[in-house]
Amino acid sequence: MALWGGRFKKDMDEIVKEFNASILFDKRMFNDDIDGSIAHVTMLAAQGIVTDEECGRIIGGLEKIRSDIAKGRVAFTVEDEDIHMGIESRLIAEIGDTGKKLHTARSRNDQCQVDARLYLKNEILAIIDELVRFEQIILEKAEKYASSITVGFTHIQHAQPITLGFVFMAYFQMFRRDIDRLQDTYRRMDFCPLGSCALAGTTLPIDRQKTSDLLGFAAPTENAMDSVSDRDYILEFLSDASISMMHLSRWAEEFVWWNSSEFAYIAIDDSYCTGSSIMPQKKNPDMAELIRGKCGRVYGDLMQLLTMMKGTPLAYNKDFQEDKEGLFDAVDTWKICLQIFSGMLEKTEFRMDRIGEQLDKGFLNATDVAEHLAVEGIPFREAHNIVGRMVKACEDKGCMLEELTDADLEAIDERLSKDLLGDISIRACVEARNSFGGTAPTEVMRQIEAGRKWLEELK
Ligand code: ARG
Repeated sequence: MALWGGRFKKDMDEIVKEFNASILFDKRMFNDDIDGSIAHVTMLAAQGIVTDEECGRIIGGLEKIRSDIAKGRVAFTVEDEDIHMGIESRLIAEIGDTGKKLHTARSRNDQCQVDARLYLKNEILAIIDELVRFEQIILEKAEKYASSITVGFTHIQHAQPITLGFVFMAYFQMFRRDIDRLQDTYRRMDFCPLGSCALAGTTLPIDRQKTSDLLGFAAPTENAMDSVSDRDYILEFLSDASISMMHLSRWAEEFVWWNSSEFAYIAIDDSYCTGSSIMPQKKNPDMAELIRGKCGRVYGDLMQLLTMMKGTPLAYNKDFQEDKEGLFDAVDTWKICLQIFSGMLEKTEFRMDRIGEQLDKGFLNATDVAEHLAVEGIPFREAHNIVGRMVKACEDKGCMLEELTDADLEAIDERLSKDLLGDISIRACVEARNSFGGTAPTEVMRQIEAGRKWLEELK
């Protein structure tokens, strides 16, 4: 019979035990559960609710169970129901009746929330570390390719020439915001629900500030009923994870394109590709595709929890036990995707020769020509129209804008000449786009420096 079996005549059906149990997944929080229990009993002793001697025995028993679990000597089964009872029942078996005092002035409803918060706070720090490593690799690449020219697209059409370092720094900003969001989530979740008990606090003289301090939280939560039924912090984390996975997925999509025979902008290292079981020549960008694919499951984790929460009245409901598997899945998925992407990016070769071949196509410098005319006093709307006609003339002639002769230009508009256009080579155009946030190599270097400074301050 379970620890709560006093008012029951019968044990649960076997199938009910299995359906009801969370132990097979919440056992991953065993360290957090034990940390929470040690803080709790330390506080109970300080308040005179248990003796120092009882406290010492309970902590000794808990540490023994912690080391047994870590050594793989504990086989949890559905009989344990969840990690909280799995540890408590072992404590009682280990040290006898004193172990029965641990659950004074607490409930599994607050315990599962202490565990989840402790677990997630650690994981957030670990994911921030992963993101920082990723950002460092992005910065190195950005610096290496700060003045290498590539094609900038809108609508997947050739738009304007840009530097490759600029592309890296665009992704850098996305992951910077991801780190920022995680820091925000961490700050908002850093409150300790221990001592909320089932839903309404307790008549016992507990000290919630003390357990909060012992566990390293900023403060105890304010309202017990909210504390046991709040899952906002998991939802926030899953939103953070979804947005960041979306960023990874977008870049993964670009990797798949860039790696295609049509683009051939990059060569992903063999160690990050797979072959085909039937087509001997194939080398597939599976890691990028998998990352793109795994984005969907993290969105699923978010949708599942949002949907689970929406009809739940105050305070605790068993539905809430469904909060953990999606969380664990998102943590695992996000972390491994960051590691894989970092490794793939680090080892990918950017083929500047192949990229260079594309720069002659699509009149990448058309906007720059219009801007040059605007500087010469031709209103931009008019300049836009003139360059449109220049493009048409080039298409008829089969040449680039910089190859139009003075005669060609004069036929389009009598004010035009090669002199008036100035240097409209692709390189000159890129170098001149030095407005704040622009693509010019000097501006990319400024962005890299700002990014580096932010990373340093983060550490
Ligand atoms: N395993 C439960 C969960 O994860 C712990 C809380 C159970 N509380 C209860 N009153 N049944 O949500």
